[in-house]
Amino acid sequence: MKKYVNVRLKGDKDLKQILVEDGVIKEIAAEIPVKCETIDLEGNLTVPPYVDPHLHLDYVFTANIGGQNGSGTLFEGIQRWSEFKEKQTVEEVKERAYAGIRKEMLHGVQCIRTHVDVTDPKQTSLKALLEVKESVKDYVDLQIVAFPQEGMYAYKGGDEFVEEALKMGADCVGAIPHYELAREFGEKSIHKTVELAVKYDKLIDVHCDETDDVQSRFLELLNALVLMEGIGSKTAASHTCSFGSADNSYAFRMMKLFMRSGINFISCPTENIYLQGRQDSYPKRRGLTRVKEFNDLGINVCFAQDSMSDPWYPLGNGNMMNILDHGIHIAQMMSPEEIENALDLVTVNGAKTMNLSESYGIEEGKPANFIVIDAKNEFDAVCERADVLASIRNGEYLFKKEPAKFTHAVDLLKA
Ligand code: FE2
Repeated sequence: MKKYVNVRLKGDKDLKQILVEDGVIKEIAAEIPVKCETIDLEGNLTVPPYVDPHLHLDYVFTANIGGQNGSGTLFEGIQRWSEFKEKQTVEEVKERAYAGIRKEMLHGVQCIRTHVDVTDPKQTSLKALLEVKESVKDYVDLQIVAFPQEGMYAYKGGDEFVEEALKMGADCVGAIPHYELAREFGEKSIHKTVELAVKYDKLIDVHCDETDDVQSRFLELLNALVLMEGIGSKTAASHTCSFGSADNSYAFRMMKLFMRSGINFISCPTENIYLQGRQDSYPKRRGLTRVKEFNDLGINVCFAQDSMSDPWYPLGNGNMMNILDHGIHIAQMMSPEEIENALDLVTVNGAKTMNLSESYGIEEGKPANFIVIDAKNEFDAVCERADVLASIRNGEYLFKKEPAKFTHAVDLLKA
């Protein structure tokens, strides 16, 4: 048994104590009169672990394969990857994935959903990530999306590879309708996605309308189908960039339907502000979906990293605070209330999207998983882009570090 003291929980003015037994939160109270090992969290903000609900672990650290992505577009990125992937081995993918997970873990992430390219007869990426998932389960909840990067139908047999991946153990059905060769194929891929999710009782996560083209409206069909099946809460629409360019009269009608279905949205702010708007002159679009409006309406929306040095995006280090910082700027979310709740966009909202709510959250009876942020309140955490000082999982440290400290600073009052 161990006891965390001086714990500052979100929205709580008074400090709390958390008692942990066998890795599970046994009690949360102002004072717990139990004698055991005591860990002082010194009044630092303590929240559930960061969640990265959209990452491509089979792509990490491949930015320079086949030369640079000169145009900086999504489509050239796919071309670069396609030329490279046949040559990679299971061991190489595993090695890169471990490095990517380690980076995220050391920034306080404990839940990751990774897309894995299954448009590959050898299923190299999937085999690697299934092994990785098993071996990291004590440290990170890893979900795998069977993602047909080159299309369910643009790639011959793509739909069969997705189904095969689900049988092999993938958790979610993926699709990329805006990349299919014709609108009809894109629609067919959405129908297939929902059909497979129902057949195999899987979650859904579609790369949906990741384009500035306002004619790309596969989200409408995805939402309608999952609404009719009653599986909206098990569904995520990733990116939905074109919805950020949609006409208001269309968008507001659609948002009512999103509220009915309970569909989740994942926005990748650093990635999409970089990739989208490439054919715009000026003004240039921001490339993000309607994050602020979703949030205002109670439609679940979260932020994700998406890439770490891959053909689509040269940077990315798994620091969700960096993603959050970009996201609230680009989406213009800085009212006092929005700042107060900003961390939800990289914590609880992501967990809800990943359907992890049963095991996620600082509550009695749940695993003792949380992170300690170098700030005394929510505003300071966001304003200072505060670092994570510790990540605790099942009551044990995944890491712990000292706050950054100046060894010298000029005293301006005396200058
Ligand atoms: Fe992606």
